[in-house]
Amino acid sequence: MGGFSRQGNEEERAIIDLNKVAEAALLLAGNLIKRSTHHFTFEPAPSPVLLWADFHRIEQVLLNLITNACQALTSSEQALRVSVRCNLSTGAQLEVRDGGVGIAQADLARVFDPFFTTKRSTGGTGLGLAISQQIVAAHGGQLVLESVAGEGTRALLTLPLPPKGASV
Ligand SMILES: Nc1ncnc2c1ncn2[C@@H]1O[C@H](COP(=O)(O)OP(=O)(O)OP(=O)(O)O)[C@@H](O)[C@H]1O
Ligand SMILES: [Mg+2]
Repeated sequence: MGGFSRQGNEEERAIIDLNKVAEAALLLAGNLIKRSTHHFTFEPAPSPVLLWADFHRIEQVLLNLITNACQALTSSEQALRVSVRCNLSTGAQLEVRDGGVGIAQADLARVFDPFFTTKRSTGGTGLGLAISQQIVAAHGGQLVLESVAGEGTRALLTLPLPPKGASV
């Protein structure tokens, strides 16, 4: 059953591999990425990054971050990089880095506010990051955006690893 045909709103956690979630989101965003940049790179973590999480919800977060990054690119010469890594001190991390328009310093504090959007004229709702942050918080994780206007943006998603000794 695909993510969009699910009926319930129940969270469905399972053992998932963050590399695989990233691959799934990149597949969904494939056409948009191709249209947006000639400089796309994906760096998965060298081994599976196993988490106890809801695959479709994390996929939705990644799709939001990748879509925002693509929409920020004004030329196909600007780069997009998605990378997954995992280390014991920080947990599982997924980074989406774009060389796009960036975010004005004054706006950076508001990007997670529901309905804050600079894309009103092109149909943006301003809900993408607000919903993403809710999903990430429900998983005990963090979502941070750093940006320099005119240079680009880095979105960093951090999710906790299962406790040591858990059968994940
Ligand atoms: N990678 C990015 N580069 C530049 N600006 C960004 C980036 N990501 C988010 N933003 C800014 O944050 C705002 C809010 O993002 P959010 O995803 O919540 O809504 P949206 O993209 O405007 O609309 P929607 O996600 O509903 O299509 C955007 O309108 C944009 O100004
Ligand atoms: Mg968005």
